Amino acid sequence: MNELERRVADEIRRRGPVPFSEVMELALYDPEQGFYATGGAAGRRGDFITSPEVGPLFGAVVARALDEWWKDRGEPDPFVVIEAGAGAGTLAIAVLAAHPMCASALRYVLVERSAALRARQADHLPLEDPALAFAPDRAEDEDGDVHPPEVATGPIVVSLDSLPRLHGFAVVIANELLDNVPVDILERRDGRWHEVRVGLELDELVETLVPADGPDIAARDGARVPVQTAAARWVRDARDCGSVVAFDYADTTASMATRDASEWLRTYRGHRRGDAPLRGLGSQDITCEVAVDQLLPPARVTQQAAWLRAHGIDELVEDGKRVWEERKHIGDLEAMRARSRVNEAASLTDPESLGGFFVLEWD
Ligand SMILES: C[S@@+](CC[C@H](N)C(=O)[O-])C[C@H]1O[C@@H](n2cnc3c(N)ncnc32)[C@H](O)[C@@H]1O
Repeated sequence: MNELERRVADEIRRRGPVPFSEVMELALYDPEQGFYATGGAAGRRGDFITSPEVGPLFGAVVARALDEWWKDRGEPDPFVVIEAGAGAGTLAIAVLAAHPMCASALRYVLVERSAALRARQADHLPLEDPALAFAPDRAEDEDGDVHPPEVATGPIVVSLDSLPRLHGFAVVIANELLDNVPVDILERRDGRWHEVRVGLELDELVETLVPADGPDIAARDGARVPVQTAAARWVRDARDCGSVVAFDYADTTASMATRDASEWLRTYRGHRRGDAPLRGLGSQDITCEVAVDQLLPPARVTQQAAWLRAHGIDELVEDGKRVWEERKHIGDLEAMRARSRVNEAASLTDPESLGGFFVLEWD
C-alpha cells in the first residue's frame, strides 16, 4: 500500500466503507499525494493528450469563437473569459498567440485547482493580480465623487484556484474538466441498485455494495452507472458566472448501463491505460465519461469536429497551407507551424477520437 492508500484504509477502519467519489477526490487532488500534485498532467510529456496539447490550432479556433461571442454581446470591455481546468495554461497560450480581436478587452481567468499546475502557468503567461481581471462598475475618488472606472488595456491574464463568484457576464470554457470531477458508482444487483463503496479486505482496498436508490432505467444484473452530482454542481456554479462551453467525452446514463464500466471509467498513466481505479492511488489519472442527462440540460450539444468547423477550423487550415507554400523554401518556424495545422486539424476532427467529443453549451 502506498501512503495515500494507507490513509484511505485508516479512514475505512474508522468509518466503514467510504463513497468512491471520496477516494477519487484524494487520488486526483490530494495536495501532497494526489495525481495532479505529483506530476500528473495533460501533454506529450504528461499522461494523456488533450485537444490544446495537440498543438495551437485548437486555441486558434477557440479565439475565433471568443471573438464571435464578444461581437454578439456588443464588444463589452472588460470581456471576462474563464478557462476552468486550465492545467499548465496551454490553451490560454494558444488563444493569446492567435491575437483575437477582443484582446484589448480580454480578461482571461485561468481556474485550476492543482497548485503544481498553477505554478507552471507563470512560466509562459504574464500572470497579473487577479483583482485586475474584474473591473469595478464604478470608482470613487478621494473626494467621494463617482467616476466610470479607468479601463485597463487587455489582455490581462490572471489565475485562480476556483471559479470566481460572478453573476452572468463571463464566458466559461472547460476542456476535459467534467470527466475529471469525482463520481460515485451504482451497480444493479438482484433487481435493485447498490452503491459501490470502497472497503478494506486483508489490507487491500476492495469494492463493496451498499443498497441505494438509483435511476429509473432498464438495467441488466451487474450493470453499472456513474452518479455525477459534483459535475452537475460544477455546471450550475459555472452557469452562474455566465455562458458555459464544455468539451468532453460524453454519453447518457442509460447507454452507460449497457456498456462495461471499464469502458467509461478509465485510468491513464504515461499515455497508456492504467490499472483498476483502486490500485496505485495517486499514480494514475481516473476519468469518467460525462453522463449528459445528469447535468443541467445544455442549450446545444454538438460534436467537436462540427463545432470546430462552425468556428472556422477549415479557414485556418487553408491559411496554413498558403503560408507553407509561400515559406517552405525558407523552412522557418512559421512555415513549420503552418504545415503542422493540417495534421492538427486531422487529429482534432477525427470522429473516432477528439473529433467525436461533445461540445456542451449552456447560454
Ligand atoms: C484532464 S485535465 C485537462 C487540462 C486542460 N484543460 C487540457 O485540456 O489540457 C483536467 C484539469 O482540470 C482540473 N480540474 C478538475 N476539477 C477542477 C475544478 N473543479 N476547478 C478547477 N480545475 C479543476 C484538474 O486539476 C486538471 O488540471
